[in-house]
Amino acid sequence: MSVIPDTGSRAIPFCRDECAAAGCVPTVCTGATFTSNDEVFERSQLVIPGGVNSSIRAYRSVGGTPRVIARAEGPYVWDVEGRRYIDLVQSYGAVILGHAHPAVTAAVSAAAADGTSFGAPTPREMKLAEAIVERVRGVERVRLMNSGTEATSAAVRLARGFTGRDRIVTFAGNFHGATDALLAAGGSGVATLGLPGTAGVPASAVAQTMVVPYNRVPRLDDSVAAVIVEPVAANMGVVVPMAGFLQGLRDECDRVGALLVFDEVITGFRLDAGGAQAKFDIDADLTTYGKVIGGGLPVGALGGRADIMESLSPLGPVFHSGTLSGNPLTTAAGLAVLDLLDDDLVMELSARARRVAALLRDACAAAGFPAQFPVAGTLVGTVCGRMAPVYDFDDARTTDTVAYARFFHAMLDAGVMMAPGAYEAMFVGLGHDDDVLDAIGVAAHSAAVAASTASAAAPAGAGSEN
Ligand SMILES: Cc1ncc(COP(=O)(O)O)c(C=O)c1O
Repeated sequence: MSVIPDTGSRAIPFCRDECAAAGCVPTVCTGATFTSNDEVFERSQLVIPGGVNSSIRAYRSVGGTPRVIARAEGPYVWDVEGRRYIDLVQSYGAVILGHAHPAVTAAVSAAAADGTSFGAPTPREMKLAEAIVERVRGVERVRLMNSGTEATSAAVRLARGFTGRDRIVTFAGNFHGATDALLAAGGSGVATLGLPGTAGVPASAVAQTMVVPYNRVPRLDDSVAAVIVEPVAANMGVVVPMAGFLQGLRDECDRVGALLVFDEVITGFRLDAGGAQAKFDIDADLTTYGKVIGGGLPVGALGGRADIMESLSPLGPVFHSGTLSGNPLTTAAGLAVLDLLDDDLVMELSARARRVAALLRDACAAAGFPAQFPVAGTLVGTVCGRMAPVYDFDDARTTDTVAYARFFHAMLDAGVMMAPGAYEAMFVGLGHDDDVLDAIGVAAHSAAVAASTASAAAPAGAGSEN
């Protein structure tokens, strides 16, 4: 029997009359009495702009109605229509142990019973910060936050405050969240929606932001506070750094006294249990985290050298605060994840990522559907319609987004959910065992044939269907 009280007569109503008979609890609504994704999505659009709380989820670039998710477990998500999909989105990389992993749900449940937020220091936040410091060389202090966006915003402010300089260097096609100063040109949703940046960011906010091509070391001068880079670019497909690129950035930053910031929000602990620092044998001055370290709960973190981090308030002049920062549930989930995520597991998941890429590659080759699936750690990218390697955003932009939309929908029809955007990565987690991988291979074969047939029937540029 549910321990949650019946709230049928309270302020949050049932979605519809049948909910009471279906045993629904309005405050823990999973849409049990809805039978159509369209119905929920249409109703959501009346109260949520575009029906989504993060732009990429809206299926704008692939067409169709987003699947409205009722629940998830391991490698699977179920939509409100009761259809099960193998999930390669994995909350955009946040749930590396798979959905509802028992260790994470047990930790969160236990933590919730002791209170959801205190606005005071806790032992768990200390332990999560210690866990990151222990794992990543060069990270001596960590400030926990609520999103990757908050972490990159704080990194920019801290770099400017610490160096006394204003200029920030970023790379075209890298994405650092919805941080004004870093939205001069971005990958991921910004790239998918074809926005040059975004409305609402005044020119003054990006006047000190210099955007340069990925995989080429820019010449800096002493006006530069920081270079912020995705050590593996995961928001324009998956683009690995060329030999010497990250070391070149390190050297150039050292030459002019600028800080090197690794944005590991998406790659954090997915490339190596010791982070990008260990993977590439290069120290960053600051590193931003998110996703994995919160086990699927809202999280961000900024870590780095003690002398720089101690410029943050209350020790230093660079202000930072957050009502929910270091949240007790998030930190419990994050600790449960990092407790299991050792070198062996990252290696095992990376092997599964390589297998997913090989299955997709073979299926597309057999169907005559040109696509490549680059891999880095546990991340898999997709580049449709181009077989030449991708080194930067100009290359990435040649991806055939119409072909991607066709492949995306064909995979969805075959029961596999990829991200609804051609520039997004796919993520492999603990839930993707051999049977699941085999099923992805089978789905990919039928999907590649369907996408190839659709492409032959409607030439490129004809626009995405659905
Ligand atoms: C590299 C990178 N940085 C920052 C962010 C922003 O993180 P969040 O969505 O948690 O704000 C993202 C989001 O995907 C990201 O991929």
